Amino acid sequence: MIKFVSTRGSIQPVNFDEAVLQGFAADGGLFVPDSIPVLTADQLQQFADLSFSELAFELVSLYVDRSIVPAQVLKELLDDSFRSFSHPDVVNLISISNQPDIRILELFHGPTLSFKDMAMGFLMNVVDYFLEQRQQRLNIVLATTGDTGPAAAWAAAGKKQIDCWPLYPRGMISEEQERQMTTLNAVNVHPVGVENCADGGDDLDLVVAELFTDTELKKSLGLSSVNSINWCRVMLQTVHYFYAYYRTVDKVGEPIVFSVPTGAFGNLFGGYLARSMGLPVNRFVCANNVNQALHSVFSTGVFPRKDLVQTPSSAIDIVAPYNFWRFLYFSTNRNSNQIRQWMDDFANKREAQLDAETLHVIQDGFMSASVSDQTTFDTIRNVYESEGHYLLDPHTAVAVAAIESLKADLPENVRVVCLATAHPAKFPDIIKMALGCDDVLPAAARHQSIEDAKRVCQHLRLCGLEYLKPALVKAMQEQWLRRAS
Ligand SMILES: Cc1ncc(COP(=O)(O)O)c(C=O)c1O
Repeated sequence: MIKFVSTRGSIQPVNFDEAVLQGFAADGGLFVPDSIPVLTADQLQQFADLSFSELAFELVSLYVDRSIVPAQVLKELLDDSFRSFSHPDVVNLISISNQPDIRILELFHGPTLSFKDMAMGFLMNVVDYFLEQRQQRLNIVLATTGDTGPAAAWAAAGKKQIDCWPLYPRGMISEEQERQMTTLNAVNVHPVGVENCADGGDDLDLVVAELFTDTELKKSLGLSSVNSINWCRVMLQTVHYFYAYYRTVDKVGEPIVFSVPTGAFGNLFGGYLARSMGLPVNRFVCANNVNQALHSVFSTGVFPRKDLVQTPSSAIDIVAPYNFWRFLYFSTNRNSNQIRQWMDDFANKREAQLDAETLHVIQDGFMSASVSDQTTFDTIRNVYESEGHYLLDPHTAVAVAAIESLKADLPENVRVVCLATAHPAKFPDIIKMALGCDDVLPAAARHQSIEDAKRVCQHLRLCGLEYLKPALVKAMQEQWLRRAS
């Protein structure tokens, strides 16, 4: 049975349920499996015609023992996770260009119009299942740059065993994203708009990390997290890579390239995991905006912690991409001591310097680019004008622009899939700027759920960053007392 260990190497291995319920490992590291299952050539072939949910069942089963989640339960939890998606196939794949052969994988047909819905529904379902079995409750706390919060809020709404606390940097996410959380009105969901976050979501990540390393607090409040810190999310994020692969290539075994708009490296880690499990991926393109810590480390080996720059692709305005530690852990052959050292350098010296050998390993099958704001706007407009008014959201535009800047370095005739991580209706102001329209948004930039949320009063709960930890602890304690009475 696969067990889960920490990237910092200082805890005893735990089972899947513990790794999921704890979120963060107690030593401050991230949970990773003690081995990565590799598909046989037969399995790789057999999975080709499965539906999205069936494929998810097969892939998740490789990590989750039947004694932890029985097969029928797993199937029901997965089916339920994708039930609220508006596309019959869960995701949609469309072609936009022949040079190179670019497809767009729309991952935004879930209830909050972002790719985060893909894994969040299952994570909340599985957490609620484990908690109900144990007759326990959890406070789920998470930091969001705009899309994780709504996805978590919607997936947690109404779950009996869970209170969910999405923290967002006020003024640094779109009004539409804020409204997706603050108009939900579920008694167990409590979004908090945090003011004065100079480093955006990264400031909030630090508070969440502080809460989690306080073992007493973690225990007394039953804290867990559903950021892509949580192993369950990155595991589920392998599925769309496999699914897109099967729908793109002519023959299983052909190579493919994925371009991924990247912030905390959770989605891209899902891709890396898929490749490690045997998916024939020729290259991943790590597409950054001008917050380019990852582009820097892939091209030079220097992993810098720079100040945050606000961009049109705000959900990837990240200065500390925490899932990269997982990737480095595997790239160094599970060298926990080295990871601890780099994590400390990154935090204290604001820079980690990789050695030449590790740089060589991480560059294997990875390319990267940093895309300027202007290029993001231009890409949205150019694709809109040349592709029958197809509208990219600003994050997807970063992935498309990155591929365009790197196309000379791609193998000939390889098929490229750009991951479309959000619906453009979540970012109307950016779309207006890109298309140069003042008031009237094109139909492609609207969505009924976004329109509906404008007609509902928001339940706002605000707090300054400097008071967040004590204020949050107090609010959670009060909520538990309310629940208990
Ligand atoms: C729309 C969108 N695109 C891309 C990303 C980046 O994903 P990751 O943080 O897993 O790299 C996010 C994450 O916040 C997002 O919301």
